Amino acid sequence: MQFTIVSLFPEFFDSALSCGLMAKGCAAGLVSVDFRNPRHFTADRHSTVDDRPYGGGPGMVMMPEPLARALRSVESPGRILMMAPKGRPFTQSFARELAQEKNVTIICGRYEGFDARLESLFPIEPVSVGDYVLNGGETAALCVMEAAARLVPGFMGHEDSGEEESFSAGLLEYPHYTRPDVFEGLEVPDVLKSGDHGRVAAWRREKSLITTLHSRPDILHEAALNSNDLEILKKERRRRIGKNLFCALVHYPVVNKEKKSVAVSLTNLDIHDIGRCSCTYGLGGYYITTPIEDQQRMLAELLNHWVTGPGTAANPDRGEALQIIRGVRLIEDAVKDISERTGQNPLLVATSARGAGNMHVGDVRTLLADRPVLLLFGTAHGLAPQVLEQCDGILRPVRYLDGYNHLSVRTAAAIIIDRILGDAL
Ligand SMILES: C[S@@+](CC[C@H](N)C(=O)[O-])C[C@H]1O[C@@H](n2cnc3c(N)ncnc32)[C@H](O)[C@@H]1O
Repeated sequence: MQFTIVSLFPEFFDSALSCGLMAKGCAAGLVSVDFRNPRHFTADRHSTVDDRPYGGGPGMVMMPEPLARALRSVESPGRILMMAPKGRPFTQSFARELAQEKNVTIICGRYEGFDARLESLFPIEPVSVGDYVLNGGETAALCVMEAAARLVPGFMGHEDSGEEESFSAGLLEYPHYTRPDVFEGLEVPDVLKSGDHGRVAAWRREKSLITTLHSRPDILHEAALNSNDLEILKKERRRRIGKNLFCALVHYPVVNKEKKSVAVSLTNLDIHDIGRCSCTYGLGGYYITTPIEDQQRMLAELLNHWVTGPGTAANPDRGEALQIIRGVRLIEDAVKDISERTGQNPLLVATSARGAGNMHVGDVRTLLADRPVLLLFGTAHGLAPQVLEQCDGILRPVRYLDGYNHLSVRTAAAIIIDRILGDAL
């Protein structure tokens, strides 16, 4: 595999290419690395490669001409990658794609980056190695080159290594142990010393699944999972964060069409559907707040019917879902109840169809790891301003980029709860 690196600092790669597997791979002729320094392709006597940005602003920009000339000097450039924070995220499957190529050219930026016209002149693929900014593309290029090179047949010597590593099967790798048997009081798990290959493989698969579930649940959906894997994941997830999430359907104070603070009646569908959703996602509880006594009586009657009354026999699943519901007068009563149940005051997070919000579902997910969160859903035209003011955060609306986002509260609740807890979490 031939890499051509376009860089102002080819010497940056010296140590990386002169030790370990990269050095061996180069010596064995499996990988070769060539360089083009744009400074050698300049037209002026100062070898200028950068200039000030049109439109002003800080820093310098890499001029297009030296880079274009450097690229045109490469006889077989193959795929041309440009290291850039805005690019396609670099992943193991991307590395696997590159390992199939004979030639790959990697352009390393410096300063504020490249003149944009370069991308119109060449079939360039911008690639990012992560959501952070490096001083230059050289560090990023090394990551790309190394991850792709080690997948070239023969590079690692032991072909299995690439197959078993993190991300290869959509999962993170299991933990490794080596000698001594006991280190500072910590023992190597017995199963790894049992000599039973079947048990070792099963243990490793389980650890791999659990590590992925805890550290990178977002990649689980790409993993091929069998029914045994699903059992392991389900068992593990039961201990997870869902129990810290509570929701409340607020019937007072909410605003009406005229933006006045009012109390509104309960809706049977919302009681059932948000109850079923809360149970499906394993929430800690679902509160229905109404200060109106007649509405409280109606709720109690409805819950009795399904949870302990005649409804249970007809539809036991519905009873199981609705027993998660607690009727309370006010939001404060729900907060008090959660504090008593969990020993911690919940954070209040409002939902709204308007505004930009100041919180994202990812923030809620992070908070849930340490403490209970009560999500407030408003009926009528939404939660009253005094409720929003008392909240610790307001979630960004669902479909906040679109003009029309008038969802029923039960639909919004289902979408938001799924985004927070999703299948993989
Ligand atoms: C200081 S950075 C320029 C950052 C640029 N102004 C921006 O905000 O996107 C200089 C060069 O480092 C490289 N670079 C920095 N961070 C990177 C990343 N996360 N992934 C890939 N390349 C990166 C790029 O080649 C970039 O042109």
